[in-house]
Amino acid sequence: MSMQVFRTRVSFVLWSVAVLGVQPVWAEGGEPAPGRARELVHLVRQDCGSCHGLTLQGGLGPALTAEALADKPAEGLVATIVGGRPGTPMPPFLGILTEAEAVWIVRELMKGFPEDGGPSPQTSESAR
Ligand code: HEC
Repeated sequence: MSMQVFRTRVSFVLWSVAVLGVQPVWAEGGEPAPGRARELVHLVRQDCGSCHGLTLQGGLGPALTAEALADKPAEGLVATIVGGRPGTPMPPFLGILTEAEAVWIVRELMKGFPEDGGPSPQTSESAR
């Protein structure tokens, strides 16, 4: 995909966010609640890890380590997580996550992603 097309898609995602009135919570540096943060870490390690590697060193998808992402603009990475990359296996996660959560995930990835603490205690109880 050309960079031009990619930029257009990124701005479309950002435009939709603005027009559809979804709060751009990242501007406020919002943190998810601790239980949700744990769920998000588990999701990234398991679901994203199924393509990006369980250690996020890359697999079908590229590495998502702090070193690999260092030179990439965070907004583009957030747009990729929210909207996916059409024409590639990278699926859109809007609905599973909010934009604010995608921003948080990118921030954590760029710092070096936390270890999986397992599914949240609530989730495992309700699974029993
Ligand atoms: C079905 C496989 C698959 C899953 C699941 C998946 N990805 Fe991806 N992802 C990809 C592929 C393939 C690419 C590369 C797309 C391309 O060719 O541009 C990608 C690209 C990305 C990029 C851009 C990386 C870069 O260097 O530009 C980010 C960020 C990303 N994925 C994050 C995630 C996150 C976070 C999740 C989970 C919420 C996730 N992905 C789940 C396959 C996947």
